[in-house]
Amino acid sequence: MAIKRIIPISSGKGGVGKTTFAINFSLALSRYGRTVLVDLDTGTSAIRNAVDVPIGKDLYHFFRKGASLNECVTTLDTKIDPEDRYRKFGFVAGPMHLIDEITNFGAGHKAKLIAAINELHADYVVLDMRAGLDSNVIDFLPFSNSGILIFTPHLPSATLAASDIVKAILFRKLRLIFSKESPFYDTLGGRQLDYWKLINDLIDRVEDVYDNSIPNLDAFADDLAQNLGDHPITRTVQQTLDEFRVHYVLNLFNGVDDSFNTAVRPFIENLTQNVSARCGVTNLGWITRSDMIHQANCNKIPALLLPHHQAKKAAKADKAAKELDDLRVAIGLEPTRRATKTKSSLSDSTDHLTSQLNVLKTMFDQKKDDDYFANFDYTSQRALFTMKNRRPSEFGDVRVYSPKEMLSTLFAKSNLPTTVDWSELE
Ligand SMILES: Nc1ncnc2c1ncn2[C@@H]1O[C@H](COP(=O)(O)OP(=O)(O)OP(=O)(O)O)[C@@H](O)[C@H]1O
Ligand SMILES: [Mg+2]
Repeated sequence: MAIKRIIPISSGKGGVGKTTFAINFSLALSRYGRTVLVDLDTGTSAIRNAVDVPIGKDLYHFFRKGASLNECVTTLDTKIDPEDRYRKFGFVAGPMHLIDEITNFGAGHKAKLIAAINELHADYVVLDMRAGLDSNVIDFLPFSNSGILIFTPHLPSATLAASDIVKAILFRKLRLIFSKESPFYDTLGGRQLDYWKLINDLIDRVEDVYDNSIPNLDAFADDLAQNLGDHPITRTVQQTLDEFRVHYVLNLFNGVDDSFNTAVRPFIENLTQNVSARCGVTNLGWITRSDMIHQANCNKIPALLLPHHQAKKAAKADKAAKELDDLRVAIGLEPTRRATKTKSSLSDSTDHLTSQLNVLKTMFDQKKDDDYFANFDYTSQRALFTMKNRRPSEFGDVRVYSPKEMLSTLFAKSNLPTTVDWSELE
């Protein structure tokens, strides 16, 4: 059996369609493997309110009654899925009413839930996150952002907040790599404490938005390169930025020009100016704005479960599969670029923007007539394709890691430098 892949769905702000996307994307994925959607926005009961099936056990039973998370998976019934098309789909609902210890769970509950998610019997696990960046969101996000960010042309401020999520994940990863416990310092001959202090002071300064001396992580990497030269710290920071890739889906898509100008452009500009121009950006598709989707939500029937002309849908799925190869380069599955880049510049943002606009245009040329059924099919196929072609740490990681686990994984498989002669730097 294939290894399990975990895909968190997040957004900078609320109301962009995370839950709508997470449910229908999970349904689409379940056509290719057993898929479990977990409601981690535990205060709103969003998923149980969006799927009209009887729920036996939910997170209440998991936290309070000793049920395993696998026992709390609800599947669809024949009333809502008469043809049994989505028999490999299941979801874990949040509690029926707001229960504070479950909504705002502490470290113990969080650790228990993370361990149980890692034990779920599924090929794909999709996590519907709450909006924003509290610790109950960030601790479930992978250290490498292997999830999907949702944004929409209809809420520009949410688009800007999306790049803050990228920033938060990157800082969390850098802080972990350079934390006192990190095996990183074992690779240094001595003066561990000096270097620990130096790098953490610098990270504090970059993260402080009111301190303009180091505006973003690229300037930070350049600073390190100038002061330390080709040094393990410099290389580690550069590598962390270069390996980071953002995967996004545009919801409420309203055409190439509008979506580009009101969502993609501000996102990329904000990302390159305030975070980094070094990380990659991959568009996994769009979901068109559709009254049927909204109506379906109101009627507690996920949009993909509404009747649809089967033949048309199958034909579109075939077509999408063929087109994936053409898009291979356009969507950023090309080899990682800029391994030795030392300077960020305006052209990085322009490069990113041009390539994202081209992706949208290519997709639009091929898919402008697609309905939302085809959009979800396409996005799920793009996600599957990306999982097949990229390392789990880049998209769809195999576990929700604790910081300790993440550190040992990072240092076990990475090609971080192992020995350095510090004397040459004095
Ligand atoms: N593609 C779409 N077309 C039409 N309406 C949509 C679409 N996607 C989402 N909506 C509507 O937008 C609203 C917000 O969607 P949803 O609840 O999925 O967002 P969310 O990001 O999960 O919100 P929250 O942050 O509150 O959890 C809902 O009314 C939903 O029906
Ligand atoms: Mg939601």
